Amino acid sequence: MRLHVADHPLVAHKLTTLRDEATDSPTFRRLADELVTLLAYEATRDVRVEPASIRTPVASTTGVRLAAPKPLVVPILRAGLGMLDGMVRLLPTAEVGFLGMIRDESTLQASTYATRLPEDLSGRQCFVLDPMLATGGTLVAAVRFLLERGADDITAICLLAAPEGVQVLRDAVEADGTGSRVSVVTAAVDERLNELGYIVPGLGDAGDRLYGVV
Ligand code: URA
Repeated sequence: MRLHVADHPLVAHKLTTLRDEATDSPTFRRLADELVTLLAYEATRDVRVEPASIRTPVASTTGVRLAAPKPLVVPILRAGLGMLDGMVRLLPTAEVGFLGMIRDESTLQASTYATRLPEDLSGRQCFVLDPMLATGGTLVAAVRFLLERGADDITAICLLAAPEGVQVLRDAVEADGTGSRVSVVTAAVDERLNELGYIVPGLGDAGDRLYGVV
């Protein structure tokens, strides 16, 4: 599994304000949106393209266009929705699917409660949006779900990750033999998870901060 931590001063600057508890919801939403666009630039480095011939006003030339089938962007409900606009700003022709995941608090297993995705994902590059890679349970379940539907390769875009969650995802995909098809792009890998499953120092509950729940 490939892990890419976006090492850029603008990413670090926006992330610092995002973490600040004094940042209000409208500012948090705007910064998350901008940060996703910067992360999307990194995450789409290997997006598939095909040659294209065009005419400029001056001459004929060749370039590239996004290849078919179109990439699929999959926000994980609820907090992943806050990342969607920032992602499709860079990939406006991508298809968008939705995955609702919930964690059973007794077994800590994540399961799917809602899906709106093409039945067959054969050959598709998928970009999963989940702001916080904390315990890793949700992302493991989401990645397995997409791979079972035939997804070709999957890049998870997370604002923040905990080392524990990265390790859980890495172990799961290596055990499944799918490690070479899964990547994570994040703005930072923080110190650890606390006993409540929050990322430390983190930014708190991403869904609550995006949607203004107190
Ligand atoms: N989910 C969040 O929103 N925040 C965390 O710190 C961990 C999981």
